Amino acid sequence: MAVKSQIPVMDGGRPVREVFLPFARPRITETDIQGILETLHSGWLATGEKTARFEEAFGGYVGNRFAVGLTSGTAAIALALQVAGVRAGDEVITTPMTFAATAAPIVHAGAVPIFADIDPGSFNINPDQVAARITKKTKALLAVHFAGRPCEMGILRHLANSHDLVLISDAAHAIEARYDGRKLAEWSDISTFSFHPNKNITTGEGGMLTTNRQAWAEHARRLRFHGIARLSDDGFPVTDVVEPGFKYNMSDLQASLGLTQMETIENGLESRRLIFEHYNEAFRGMPGVSVPPPVPERSRHAMHMYNILLDTNCLCINRNRFCRALNLENIGAGVHYRSLHQMSFYREHCQLKDEDYPASAFVSDRILTLPLFAGMSVDDAQSVVEAVAKVLRCYRRNGVR
Ligand SMILES: Cc1ncc(COP(=O)(O)O)c(C=O)c1O
Repeated sequence: MAVKSQIPVMDGGRPVREVFLPFARPRITETDIQGILETLHSGWLATGEKTARFEEAFGGYVGNRFAVGLTSGTAAIALALQVAGVRAGDEVITTPMTFAATAAPIVHAGAVPIFADIDPGSFNINPDQVAARITKKTKALLAVHFAGRPCEMGILRHLANSHDLVLISDAAHAIEARYDGRKLAEWSDISTFSFHPNKNITTGEGGMLTTNRQAWAEHARRLRFHGIARLSDDGFPVTDVVEPGFKYNMSDLQASLGLTQMETIENGLESRRLIFEHYNEAFRGMPGVSVPPPVPERSRHAMHMYNILLDTNCLCINRNRFCRALNLENIGAGVHYRSLHQMSFYREHCQLKDEDYPASAFVSDRILTLPLFAGMSVDDAQSVVEAVAKVLRCYRRNGVR
């Protein structure tokens, strides 16, 4: 008779671990806390000197001359589209294998999201599918570097240059990533980043837009605060509203956390790399799962998420039940993402069908995210491996239970 720990919790057994392991957790140090306290004591909490310092440090790190601190990565995408001149009726080509935040700002701009299918190995947008969808109405390419893996930036850059398109990087997962030896923001006309608590660094909530074009940065800076410009003055600042703007400005409270988080950004990546490689070793060759492929030597994966693909043919439960089984084992597995082409709004609004997105549809039904965050221990990772192996073993089709 099987011992209780070998029976899945879903069938009345005992969990692999006693304490729930989330799929992401922000790493907050004493230095972070001291920085926030200092800002609280300073009496200045809104956009100010700390925001300016964080922008400078962040822009320098990602390789762009200008950086604009914002309230979220979603706000950064909205402003990127606006300063790039995306207007009603324009088309923006993007990937369906992403979070809702990538596509909604396109719709809000009055433009049309055109989804291009992904590469089933990298889960990133497939440049051939992009090329096939470029029309006279295409204004921009919005590339998402899924899980921190760089897109094929050489080809996307070439497509953008030859069709006069703006290349925007949604680098919410990929602050530290590089493609062919260069940072992603250096390949892109505009890049956007997120500092949500589950991202590689956090400001609580927050985002950043970066670019090398001064005019675009100044426009984004004006748009983030009500479209207000300063008129020349006689010692007293007279302002004018030159366009309807937004309330998207980052606060100094957020920026002070961002500043100290920047100090450990490379260390955080190294910490995640240990876990990522432990998973790769353990899952490579495990029947029923496939692991992320390696990135070329001159590129760098930011290792934001670790995703496996389940071979659902050899299981008697689907991916969602598999996830549920892992959660009951106290493993915070999640789904990133159900493809946007299957989400009811985009499916209906853009009349999208699975047949037109075979790779996204395939991945969407099989993908699973496993816990990965800086500071996670190898023992934690090993408990994830054991739980995945246990659930695979117990729910294998025709297998012995
Ligand atoms: C790919 C992607 N783009 C954009 C965003 C939006 O970032 P934020 O939550 O800071 O608005 C996210 C957030 O999860 C994301 O995963």
